[in-house]
Amino acid sequence: MELLTLTCIFIVCFAISKIYLKYVSTSAYFETRGIPLHGFEPIRVLRNTYHGIGLSEDTLEKYRQVKAKGAKIGASVDFSQKAYLVCDPVILKHIMVKDFNHFMDRQLFEVHKEDFLLQKMLLVLTGRPWKYVRTKLNPAFSSRSIRRLFQAFDDSGKKFVEFLEKTPKNGGELDLTIAIDKFLTHVFGSATYGIDSKAFDQEGPSEFQHHGKDAYIHFHGLKGIKIFLLAALPKLGYKLGLTFLGRDNQTYFNNVFQSAVKDRLQSNTSGEDFVQLILEGKEATNLEKSEDEDDEESNTSYKKQLALENHEVFDDEGIATNCLQFMLAGFEGSQSLLLFSVYALALNQDIQTKLRQEVLAGLEQDGGEFTFQTVNGMEYLEMFVKEYFPNPEKFSPERFSKENKPNLVPNTFMPFGGGPRDCIGRRFAVIEVKVALCHLVKNFELVPSKRTLIPLQFSDGLQRKPKGGMFLALNKIN
Ligand code: HEM
Repeated sequence: MELLTLTCIFIVCFAISKIYLKYVSTSAYFETRGIPLHGFEPIRVLRNTYHGIGLSEDTLEKYRQVKAKGAKIGASVDFSQKAYLVCDPVILKHIMVKDFNHFMDRQLFEVHKEDFLLQKMLLVLTGRPWKYVRTKLNPAFSSRSIRRLFQAFDDSGKKFVEFLEKTPKNGGELDLTIAIDKFLTHVFGSATYGIDSKAFDQEGPSEFQHHGKDAYIHFHGLKGIKIFLLAALPKLGYKLGLTFLGRDNQTYFNNVFQSAVKDRLQSNTSGEDFVQLILEGKEATNLEKSEDEDDEESNTSYKKQLALENHEVFDDEGIATNCLQFMLAGFEGSQSLLLFSVYALALNQDIQTKLRQEVLAGLEQDGGEFTFQTVNGMEYLEMFVKEYFPNPEKFSPERFSKENKPNLVPNTFMPFGGGPRDCIGRRFAVIEVKVALCHLVKNFELVPSKRTLIPLQFSDGLQRKPKGGMFLALNKIN
């Protein structure tokens, strides 16, 4: 027992002194360069968790600190590396586009082989393997490909409405977070693997939904401690048998992918889902050339080397992980966009009416069923989902009207990032959210209720969610 206690004390002291030494050396690096420092990220995370400060508030605070010092860049000492907060659109353009080759790697955490799916995910790949997989995946995210998934979005939208209709309303109101989570999970199951996630079949999470939620990286409770340890001291964390995504979650989603492939091979069928798109794209020989276009020899060896990397990073596990990516990279952004969209609709009845008119007109034109072309072409809906900048306190879709577009400062509106490493799933996310909104405003009038937070307050933690849930009242439109 004594030995165990001593070992624990030793591990904690070792961890603290390692973290402290890292902080001292990195902060000296920034001081000598005159870059304002926001502090040590792990300590900020602990402070934020303790005080209930969310990611959005924390980022805004850092942004204001940089601006107050008249600087263009701020910095913090991250878990495993230096992190910069760039507050200047011109510098941003250099980083994301012009000098991309120097900034192409995004490595939030050190990922080891024990996270056998995560290590092959586009989101965390670096250098040439990233370039290779991105090239392979790009066609599956093109407009033409996303159009093929439309039926899955539309069916999920219908189920979303059915679920909302039968959800008991407490004093007329309900927490839309639950239904939105189920909608996104249902889209994930059907548009990615062509399966029914069963998310809408029960009040609580289905098995599929449970594993998706459990794999999600956040800083709350026990999971938060695990992620914190893995992020700050990866070698120690992995030695203790921890993984970011959880071994059983990775095995579960690997099996879901394998059986989706096996089923269609056995029945000799194909599906209209992401697995299908990615399998079709896998065989395509769209390898990029080397920098020197004319150098045939170097291109041949480049292709050979890439093919080798293909074997490692785009094997079955590599494909399985890029399906799971919809949940890990795509869930939170789509979730917050939908949550804040329904909030904006409830608080701006004139905007809601205008949007409903456009949606109903589109539906009539399509003979009562939504189509990709109509939903994608709705002008006001497009302005609506884009809205939140430059004055986020005022909700005004007109900011994104054709007439006002020239007034937007370039590189200040980047919800999906920019340059070659921008969000690969942006088309998927936007149509998914648009379909949900079309079904919502067609079927319900959304109004604020007793527990609607006005003004909005953000939850703590890494996710951009409203505090305590998104409570609204829904009146059915007949
Ligand atoms: C409204 C929803 C979404 C938002 C706001 C969003 C936003 C972003 C942002 C800001 C980035 C970083 C871009 C950069 O570094 O320049 C990103 C990357 C990424 N997103 Fe999204 N995203 C959303 C939905 C999705 C969906 C549905 C997927 C589905 C797969 C997805 C997959 C990815 C991936 C894989 C990356 C990394 C790309 C790479 O490293 O090459 N995202 N996203």
